[in-house]
Amino acid sequence: MSDWSTIEALPSPKLVDLFAADPDRLATFSLDVAGIHFDWSKTHLTADAMAAFAALAAAQDLTGKRDAMFGGAVVNVTENRPVEHTAERGEGKAESVAIARQFHARMRTLIDAIEGGALGEVRHVLHVGIGGSALGPHLLIDALGREDKRYDVAIVSNVDGTALEDVFDRFDPAATLLVIASKTFTTTETMLNAESVLGWMTEHGVEDPYGRVIALTASPDKAVEWGVDETRVLPFSEGVGGRYSLWSSIGFPAAIGLGWGAFEELLEGAAEMDRHFRLSPLHQNAPAIAAFADLYYTQVRHAETRAPFAYDERLRLLPSYLQQLEMESNGKSVRVDGQPVGRPTAAITWGGVGTDAQHAVFQLLHQGTHLVPVEFIAVIEQYDTLNEDHHRQLLLNAFAQGAALMKGKSVDDPARSYSGDRPSSTLLLDQLDPRTLGALIAFYEHRVFVNGVLLGINSFDQFGVELGKEMAKEAAKGGGDFDPSTTDLIRRAGLD
Ligand code: F6P
Repeated sequence: MSDWSTIEALPSPKLVDLFAADPDRLATFSLDVAGIHFDWSKTHLTADAMAAFAALAAAQDLTGKRDAMFGGAVVNVTENRPVEHTAERGEGKAESVAIARQFHARMRTLIDAIEGGALGEVRHVLHVGIGGSALGPHLLIDALGREDKRYDVAIVSNVDGTALEDVFDRFDPAATLLVIASKTFTTTETMLNAESVLGWMTEHGVEDPYGRVIALTASPDKAVEWGVDETRVLPFSEGVGGRYSLWSSIGFPAAIGLGWGAFEELLEGAAEMDRHFRLSPLHQNAPAIAAFADLYYTQVRHAETRAPFAYDERLRLLPSYLQQLEMESNGKSVRVDGQPVGRPTAAITWGGVGTDAQHAVFQLLHQGTHLVPVEFIAVIEQYDTLNEDHHRQLLLNAFAQGAALMKGKSVDDPARSYSGDRPSSTLLLDQLDPRTLGALIAFYEHRVFVNGVLLGINSFDQFGVELGKEMAKEAAKGGGDFDPSTTDLIRRAGLD
């Protein structure tokens, strides 16, 4: 029997029966790493499932591939590159770590200069970037930047001008720093947004708008060609993928907005998770166990989606950050060798914020026909300063939802019955600080990696985003060989 057929043949015992049969279940399927408590006991993972996934991991040489990634081998084979985001936090090939340190030092020097007034008055930081060049910094600023605001930071990604205009309404052009974040420095939306910010500065009498521009990029030559002074270009390595880049200079808004100390703590938290992933046996390895559960649900139970819910307002952007990380990394149909994968790959990641989501989408989770593995992310330490009832209710709601999904309820009226046996996992953070957030994000990165290795796919390319971009470019030039429907839409919008 192949390893996948062993997995596909795994039984589907009821969660409540698993607890009843094993008094140690909670201890077996929970773990504490880097200030995060992981609880997978309310998933259908069993000792047999763990053994089957460990066998598959051995067959796919997970540990060898993990070591190859940390060792700087060319694991992104379709783009012929190593994968170097862990080097940004000091874990990786010595040369890559040394280069990352130099780039970080350069970023720190520039931040110190800005703080010392080298670029004149700076109260506002306007970061333009998209995808991985926006979602990570945005998550960091939104999660950690609520107090002691050094700068008012805005992250604009959408090419829809309304997004920029909202910021123009509240920023002072003379006190704004324009930060252009683009790994390639060619992304149409970002370049157009950057030009419009320069235009806005010029219109408002800023004498040297280019003097207030910083570039975060793996293509420094392109940034200089575009007009950014070389001293204000903050490079990072080509081997750092866009959706893995918040640890590099792409994290500039966090480093300046939260302070250098906070940025370093973020990197250290991630490094702690790197070491855990690299050194722990698979049955005590958080990213591996989480990926085994992901694969159990996609391959055995045919779940098409998974839903993380942040029970903490500060983590409200986490689900959208994870959407890119998981779907752009593992939303593939071919294996590394170019052959069809022949089985489902990434689940569709969606999710939201608790408790709001309970009053909107949880109906389907409790009684709908789809099986959706749910993930609760909550923080023990209360952040708000209101009556402690707020935080008590927030956490108790998260825990009660997980319990209800599993337990269900059977009454005479089918409309009021709950099937139960619906899986959830819980990630409970002691507190939300830079270190713990760094560890949390690194956990998700490695979980994506394990999923990719077990499926035999390359998690580090993203060719699927190219075709639509190319066709939009053709249309913008007035060309393109479009179908009648698209041609009609272009004409109706007056864009032909
Ligand atoms: O379109 C997808 C993508 O290439 C992402 O992978 C990336 O994060 C984003 O675009 C932005 O790219 P860049 O940083 O090169 O502007």
